[in-house]
Amino acid sequence: MDPTTRHSAQRWSNERITAVQRWAPHQWSLRITRPADFRFQPGHYAKLGLALADGQEVWRPYSIVSAPAEDDLEFLLTLVPGGALTPALDALGVGDAVRFEHLAMGFFIETQLAAGDRLWMLATGSGLGPYVSMLRDGAALERHGQIALVHSVRYANELAYADEFRALAARLPGRVHYVPVVTREPQEGRLSQRIPVMIESGALEAHVGMAMDAQGSRVMVCGNPDFTTEMRRILNGRAFQPCRRGLSGSMLFEKYW
Ligand SMILES: NC(=O)c1ccc[n+]([C@@H]2O[C@H](COP(=O)([O-])OP(=O)(O)OC[C@H]3O[C@@H](n4cnc5c(N)ncnc54)[C@H](OP(=O)(O)O)[C@@H]3O)[C@@H](O)[C@H]2O)c1
Repeated sequence: MDPTTRHSAQRWSNERITAVQRWAPHQWSLRITRPADFRFQPGHYAKLGLALADGQEVWRPYSIVSAPAEDDLEFLLTLVPGGALTPALDALGVGDAVRFEHLAMGFFIETQLAAGDRLWMLATGSGLGPYVSMLRDGAALERHGQIALVHSVRYANELAYADEFRALAARLPGRVHYVPVVTREPQEGRLSQRIPVMIESGALEAHVGMAMDAQGSRVMVCGNPDFTTEMRRILNGRAFQPCRRGLSGSMLFEKYW
């Protein structure tokens, strides 16, 4: 993701916060009003900004969690202690203003992948964000026979959107699999190893009942940079193909922070 943080935005507006949903003390979702002319695809990110008390303008990119058909825009935020923007955003509530740049960015777009029988959406932490938009939108479900969303977090209260995904999986049994992974709070019946470890041992495929092979599977990876590096190594070893300009591939990566 583009790390640019301070710049003069090309075109932006002040939007209003319409809802705040807190998942954990350091993690929450923010909904804001959407400029009428702003268009995006699931997987895109855009910049939120604030003018701070010292007069500095700070902008940061965040994945858009809402679907293109929704009236508002939604973002999943993680507090970065001592960070320039998230502590200030954390202090805002419904009705407060936040700056929004009218520019959708990024290449973590599901249609870059060739259509396949099985789509794996792998996320750590707030790397979940783009998949929320994709699953709410539903287009990915039309291009792939089955989708498995695997979300790895340290503690169970960081399983943002879990109820929404459980409901989706219950509505589409056998087509959508929701697989929460909690690594630092083991519980009977819940996966607790890191995603790459469970892929290499075969435990993840066995748990979901879905293969991860380059022939009929597609894999999207979003989250911790060490996780994406590790997944690239594993998928290269299984002959997955990257998405290149004009060529559909079988694996796609987003370095989230
Ligand atoms: N700058 C930003 O924009 C930004 C965004 C998000 C988070 N952060 C910062 O990052 C820190 C941690 O956030 P987080 O809880 O989302 O982090 P995290 O350390 O990425 O942990 C989330 C999940 O990913 C797993 N994980 C970590 N490294 C992995 C790897 N190499 N391969 C596979 N799985 C891996 C963790 O397992 P384990 O429990 O085994 O480690 C955990 O289940 C926080 O301090 C946060 O402030 C910064």
